Amino acid sequence: MAKFIIKQSGALSGEVEVSGSKNAVLPIMAAALLTEDGCELNDVPALRDVDVMCGLLRSIGSEVGEDYGGNRLLLQTRDIGSVEAPYELVKKMRASILVMGPLLARTGKARISLPGGCAIGARPINLHLKGFRALGAAIEEGNGFVEATADRLHGSNIYLDFPSVGATENIMMAAVLAEGVTILENVAEEPEIVDLANFLNKMGARIKGAGTDTIKIEGVGSLKGARHSVIPDRIETGTFMIAAAITRGSVVIRNVVPDHVKPVAAKLRECGVSIDGGGDSMRVDASGGRLVSTDVKTLPYPGFPTDMQSQFMAFLATVEGPSVVIETVFENRYMHIGELNRMGASIKIEGSIAMIEGGRLMRGAQVLATDLRAGAALALAGLAAEGSTEISEIYHIERGYSDFMGKLRGLGANISRIED
Ligand code: EPZ
Repeated sequence: MAKFIIKQSGALSGEVEVSGSKNAVLPIMAAALLTEDGCELNDVPALRDVDVMCGLLRSIGSEVGEDYGGNRLLLQTRDIGSVEAPYELVKKMRASILVMGPLLARTGKARISLPGGCAIGARPINLHLKGFRALGAAIEEGNGFVEATADRLHGSNIYLDFPSVGATENIMMAAVLAEGVTILENVAEEPEIVDLANFLNKMGARIKGAGTDTIKIEGVGSLKGARHSVIPDRIETGTFMIAAAITRGSVVIRNVVPDHVKPVAAKLRECGVSIDGGGDSMRVDASGGRLVSTDVKTLPYPGFPTDMQSQFMAFLATVEGPSVVIETVFENRYMHIGELNRMGASIKIEGSIAMIEGGRLMRGAQVLATDLRAGAALALAGLAAEGSTEISEIYHIERGYSDFMGKLRGLGANISRIED
């Protein structure tokens, strides 16, 4: 198994360019199933998760041309050979569930291995299934699979109990070819939803309201191929913002959509970090003096993103003063706290509330990455900690960040990778 070895790195400096968004490209790749025409995706990040999605699309019958050097994917599904997402792929990547809506819309059938839970929670798919039923699909669950069938999907009014990102995406992709109008309410408003809707509209779909809490979809007869450039990854952006802040460095981040990282920038500014810039780049400067702590509550977009909670907590552990973090999106997203405490942090958990003492001298230790963002948080803590930090199970990190080590090294981080 590979490990990262991270040594105290001093103030990071220099420039880093953010890649395309993992959480935008995965649903967009699934959406390419909705047409027999070819689709061209650009600014695609070279990630394990993208490889897994390519494998899943091939198993369904897609021709997939990967040009990671050019960050480009060419996808074409002339015929659907299989309507199944098998367990061995779904267990590798939960986002495999996102082929369910497109398969149902294009063929009237989808058979998906139920995605299990993961380190951050049970992650049920009841809202996805509620949407498919409302559109006229019959749903059967049994021996670890869920099967959806429908002769013809029809428009419907659907209210989501929780603004689930995946459910919003899956139901939207099922509804674009349904007969009639679908109104989706209390939906996710994340930028990745907007990027998916923009891609679908380029294919000829008629979607309005993406990015608000209500989306209207007028079903159309068929969709055609499209070319699309994926938005930058706002969570990778936030992760490098924290890398600058936790090392008290000054870093320029390129290929950024400032609007998409507003909540993270606002909280860092509250701590005394200066953030400025224009267009698609920003400077994050934490070299200017004493920082202060702040409190954070994660919420669906445009609130503070749950995917930045662990990284921000690592930063708060190094800032003088007490702080409180409340995780409201996932029920078990505190697996990184035990590992941060082993590095010298002092963080207590009461239910969904974490209380951080702050101002602690972090010391390097052997730690375990339990999930993608927890692993990133431990790497950031390692940059600031005295001595050396060894992170195992780094496949979690590498599935969601392209060239994580290279990008950090480019900012002066002392990080290396060993095969155990
Ligand atoms: C997406 O996951 C992201 N993944 C996650 O990023 C992100 O943390 C999450 O949205 C929230 O922003 C991708 O986009 C590939 P949800 P998703 O459905 O769609 C509950 C990362 O690190 N829920 O919005 O699975 C669920 O249990 C990953 O990049 C139901 O109860 O998230 C959770 O508590 C981690 N029933 C909450 O909603 C459902 O049917 C949010 O889940 C669906 C979800």
